[in-house]
Amino acid sequence: MKTVPVRLGDRSYDILIGRGLFDRLAPELTARGVGRRVFLVSNPTVFELYGNEIQQALQERGFQVTPLFIPEGERYKNLQTVENIYTYLIAQKADRQSTLLALGGGVTGDVVGFVAATFLRGIRYVQLPTTLLGQVDSSVGGKTGVNHCLGKNLIGVFHQPSLVCIDTDTLQTLSDRDFRSGVYEAVKYGLIYDPSFFELFEEKLSEILSRSSSGGSLLEEVIGRCCQIKAEVTAKDEKEAELRRTLNFGHTLGHAAEAAMNFLELTHGEAIGYGMEAACELSYEADLISSDERDRVRSAIRAIGPRPDVRGIPFERLQEIMKRDKKRLGDRTVFVLLKGIGATVIRDDLSDEMVRRAWENVVNAP
Ligand SMILES: NC(=O)c1ccc[n+]([C@@H]2O[C@H](COP(=O)([O-])OP(=O)(O)OC[C@H]3O[C@@H](n4cnc5c(N)ncnc54)[C@H](O)[C@@H]3O)[C@@H](O)[C@H]2O)c1
Ligand SMILES: [Zn+2]
Repeated sequence: MKTVPVRLGDRSYDILIGRGLFDRLAPELTARGVGRRVFLVSNPTVFELYGNEIQQALQERGFQVTPLFIPEGERYKNLQTVENIYTYLIAQKADRQSTLLALGGGVTGDVVGFVAATFLRGIRYVQLPTTLLGQVDSSVGGKTGVNHCLGKNLIGVFHQPSLVCIDTDTLQTLSDRDFRSGVYEAVKYGLIYDPSFFELFEEKLSEILSRSSSGGSLLEEVIGRCCQIKAEVTAKDEKEAELRRTLNFGHTLGHAAEAAMNFLELTHGEAIGYGMEAACELSYEADLISSDERDRVRSAIRAIGPRPDVRGIPFERLQEIMKRDKKRLGDRTVFVLLKGIGATVIRDDLSDEMVRRAWENVVNAP
């Protein structure tokens, strides 16, 4: 088991990473002063796979566990689901000593974190992420929130969990597509922060993608390094003033493409894959990386797997969405670019024409 500390003063917490960790959850909760009363929030699919065992193991150790179900899918990441959870918690007489356990992917983690941040002005929660995206990204850092019908993640608050417990065995049941979606985000950390971590993907991608038991420790290493980087960045810049923005590498165009497809045809990671390629193209055009570096990044991203075709999205549509992005600065669209592999610069002075060229080069590439 690996432990990655997230250092945030009196809101510090650990990320535990390893195989079979859910079996050892009870003592880890107790060690962190989590009270007996816990609500295990999950969707029916994930509960069926892991919830029963967790409930049983916790009950055997004296916890009073109440399961609480939310519907599956991004379209339920909204205030209605939040309201339903409040109602249930009130009916079940949850109090300020109660703790919420978020078992599932990023959708579950974001909703449960938001409920925990706001219910009774804030209670504790623990992240039990079961998707690769959840494990390398969404469960760490304390961003919580839900979508509004006018836009994604528009309602939210920072609220750090008390513990993140990552049982890497859960990745075995994840669909190939959801697994690959997380791999794009994992590669991102190498590109923005750590060249040798990027090289690991160049050398061992097929082993990572195979998720075989021999690749088990490799997966643990990959997830551990992602969490370390996210923890470091979060500790230095919790509220996203500067450094934390670099985690948005690939997200300006990627997020726009995801939205243009109504969050249906592209997974988040696939969209970010396209966005990272385009940001890399822009970095090359801005003389920040060499053609050799650009080609390396491009082939590493493409090797992750097939992605839906996005040539049908008119560039004007992407522009429209980028102009509404909450991460904009005034009327300027912000891009995170690479300065060599492993370092970044933030730019808000790129011409529309330059961005269009980069996007078209990427989506029309053979
Ligand atoms: N808070 C943050 O910092 C942050 C960062 C990145 C993404 N996000 C959010 O995360 C969400 C996406 O997360 P996601 O990709 O995990 O999607 P998700 O939560 O929708 O999970 C994907 C699918 O996998 C299923 N699933 C989960 N674990 C499984 C397992 N072990 N075996 C089989 N099936 C399993 C889920 O039921 C779901 O159908 C988005 O809403 C995004 O906004 C948040
Ligand atoms: Zn992302």
